[in-house]
Amino acid sequence: MPKLGVNIDHIATLREVRKGKEPQPVFAALICETNGADSIVVHLREDRRHIKEEDLYLLKKVVRTKLNLEMSVAKDIVEIACKVKPHQATLVPEKRKELTTEGGLDVISNFKKVREVFEKLGREKIEVSLFIDPDKKQIESAKKIGVRMIELHTGRYADAEDKDLKERYLLEIKKATEFAKNIGLIVNAGHGLNYYNVSAVAQIKGIEELNIGYSIICRAVIVGLAEAVKEMKALISDDKY
Ligand code: PXP
Repeated sequence: MPKLGVNIDHIATLREVRKGKEPQPVFAALICETNGADSIVVHLREDRRHIKEEDLYLLKKVVRTKLNLEMSVAKDIVEIACKVKPHQATLVPEKRKELTTEGGLDVISNFKKVREVFEKLGREKIEVSLFIDPDKKQIESAKKIGVRMIELHTGRYADAEDKDLKERYLLEIKKATEFAKNIGLIVNAGHGLNYYNVSAVAQIKGIEELNIGYSIICRAVIVGLAEAVKEMKALISDDKY
């Protein structure tokens, strides 16, 4: 059964609506951890639309599980990561105008840059994961970079409305997981997963961790954060997996 990483970016999104002090991501992180989260995930975006630098320092102090920082390979972001020293950094592509991360990191086209950032973060003892599409060539390229870990982008599967297409994208994730495991990579997955589509992905053998944000925070508005995390944890931790 996979572990659950909870992305709390949108706690900060809510705070930034009024540019105030509440709700606090650190407070949310503790609630997530005490209700089943195996790691806390945040994305320091270049435009700082939700998580800010100071959130990272606070989170690094209080998080007891694992702090996974999603980040682009931009120079100033890499410098901040080296100062904060999260347990893990997940390299993602980033476009300023996107609503959320669109597509995986193109490791093939950005090989040199990605390797340079991987090495720099590695010198600070930060475990590096690459967020990539479930594509054999990207996975091979990630392996060549030297990372131990990847996160497969599940967005295409999550967004597909047509049943056959959804099945096809699910199969794509399954095959990519199998391929990556066979060449010795640790495989995580995430993006667009929710209470209705997560089970099929959670059942894929070999996926170690699912990183889920938006759907949990949306549900938290209705049922509370503790309950929302518990429900997701129960869904992905079903014994039959
Ligand atoms: N994994 C990565 C690498 C992401 O960039 C995101 C979005 O920040 C997620 C997982 C979580 O996606 P969602 O908010 O759609 O659950």
